[in-house]
Amino acid sequence: MDLGLRGKKAIVTGATKGIGRAIVEALLAEGAAVGFCARSEDEVQATVAEFQAKGGEVIGGAVNVRDGDAYRAWLESTAQALGGCDVFVPNVSAGGGMDSEKNWWKNFEVDVLHTVRGCEALMEHLKKSGQGAIVIISSTNAIETFAAPMAYNAMKASLITYAKQLSQFVGKAGVRVNAVSPGPIYFEGGAWEMIKGTNPKFYESTLRAIPSGRFGTPEEVARVVAFLASPAASLVTGANVVADNGFTKGVRY
Ligand SMILES: NC(=O)c1ccc[n+]([C@@H]2O[C@H](COP(=O)([O-])OP(=O)(O)OC[C@H]3O[C@@H](n4cnc5c(N)ncnc54)[C@H](OP(=O)(O)O)[C@@H]3O)[C@@H](O)[C@H]2O)c1
Repeated sequence: MDLGLRGKKAIVTGATKGIGRAIVEALLAEGAAVGFCARSEDEVQATVAEFQAKGGEVIGGAVNVRDGDAYRAWLESTAQALGGCDVFVPNVSAGGGMDSEKNWWKNFEVDVLHTVRGCEALMEHLKKSGQGAIVIISSTNAIETFAAPMAYNAMKASLITYAKQLSQFVGKAGVRVNAVSPGPIYFEGGAWEMIKGTNPKFYESTLRAIPSGRFGTPEEVARVVAFLASPAASLVTGANVVADNGFTKGVRY
């Protein structure tokens, strides 16, 4: 199936590793031009060089999405450099952590505000596209209780509500908005590799909750995101697509 992404311009946040990096790779493989960011300049440059060596049309910038002004400036300059924006994937998260007021602010500013600011800053470009698509990265932690009360889980839930409401608001302008909720995703250098070392009991119990007995990979999430971002998913908007290999147990009608 041709997803129809060839020649489209995409912006992805947080993409020097893990799920974000795999999303950039999937979009490049479909022929899109991609701009992405992360905080580490060295890692951004190394990632750009790797993708360019494979023939990808890609640019990267070092920015902390928590800094609203710098982040908005990066989004606008990236859209200008790409010649527009058809696809936006806000992927950065401040991650989980036991509850504290500090974590609530961090997860609000990073997970929620960077997503909202990005959607607002890029909306005119997405409307101009005629086939604009936003894919917001949430988590299964938003839809089922997990581990402990955490700002991360509640803020990820708010993103699903935001995606649904925004989809209603901008649908007339030809922009689709969806959320993707991955279950546990394992990759080298990722959170689950760290948990495997620091809390093997929790790691094993999580693994046992997945019917096939294996974690997902960033590439498996990226394929779902690429589909939703593409004109091939023209009928899908306001959805929260769970990509969790059966990790969640709830029945949702
Ligand atoms: N991994 C999982 O099991 C899992 C499961 C469900 C949902 N998710 C969601 O999937 C998304 C990606 O997760 P991941 O595990 O792939 O993440 P990750 O390994 O933590 O990678 C995050 C990427 O974002 C960049 N980044 C982090 N903070 C940033 C900031 N403030 N500003 C700009 N860039 C920043 C990092 O580079 P720098 O450090 O250089 O900035 C890195 O490139 C997140 O929204 C996460 O909540 C993950």
